Amino acid sequence: MAASNELERQLERAAGQLRHHFGEVNYEALIILGSGLNAVAEKLSDVSTLAFSQVEGMQASTAAGHVGQFVSGKLAGHHVLVMQGRLHGYEGYTAQGVAYPVWIAARLGVPLLITSNAAGALNVDYQVGDFCLMSDQINLTGRNPMAAAQPAQIYDRFVGMYEAFDPELRDRVVHVARERAISLQVGVYVGLLGPSFETPAEIRMLQLLGGDSVAMSVCEEVIGARAAGMRVVGISLITNMGCGIEGSNPTDLEVHDVGATRVDDFYQLLEGILAS
Ligand code: HPA
Repeated sequence: MAASNELERQLERAAGQLRHHFGEVNYEALIILGSGLNAVAEKLSDVSTLAFSQVEGMQASTAAGHVGQFVSGKLAGHHVLVMQGRLHGYEGYTAQGVAYPVWIAARLGVPLLITSNAAGALNVDYQVGDFCLMSDQINLTGRNPMAAAQPAQIYDRFVGMYEAFDPELRDRVVHVARERAISLQVGVYVGLLGPSFETPAEIRMLQLLGGDSVAMSVCEEVIGARAAGMRVVGISLITNMGCGIEGSNPTDLEVHDVGATRVDDFYQLLEGILAS
């Protein structure tokens, strides 16, 4: 079938580049590694890499702690495509640009997106170092990858967002965390554009809105993946309490420090998801 527009032609060329570089692989998941969690990719076997900057339609990720490459490899025997680093709206990417690599994976037939990030806690019962499984999201970025002409010619523009985070796989993550004694919370994720951290007043507002965690990524990826019919799992690593909670004043540095200590447990959660 002929491509309907330039975006689709670009996605087809990008998917072709990945196929050419990594070979014909039936990936079980696209895993996006957020701040502090990039080192998970070092635990894969049979690895090969391709810089984002080499891929049609993508530029390098500029955010600190984000390597900016695709990694193809095996995680506990499962073929996975990993993004070591991601594209953020605050780097100047459009919402469509943020969803673009997810759509490349969709074109490769990848059925599942596992997206991760570092987040601040809104829920005062959470602790730094907890993982938080996203039960739902509140997209406060003000942006949406489907709010453009070209994506809507490829996918249904009016994406249903009921149970956007796959209920069966959520149960699975909870089960794995319990089995392996990994501290996991389950809550509503709030995505903002950033890049400034929130004010204490904004944190209080987000608590009133029903959020449990907050960060500057994920929402556009999730919408893009649902538009493409992919199942989605979202996991945050709580790296700090939200600004003003218990005197917290988050900086970018602590986000990476906490990540380094939780890489092994995150790998175990991934292993558990893929084993199902
Ligand atoms: N706010 C927004 N983004 C974040 C935070 C936070 O407190 N921590 C890590 N990413």
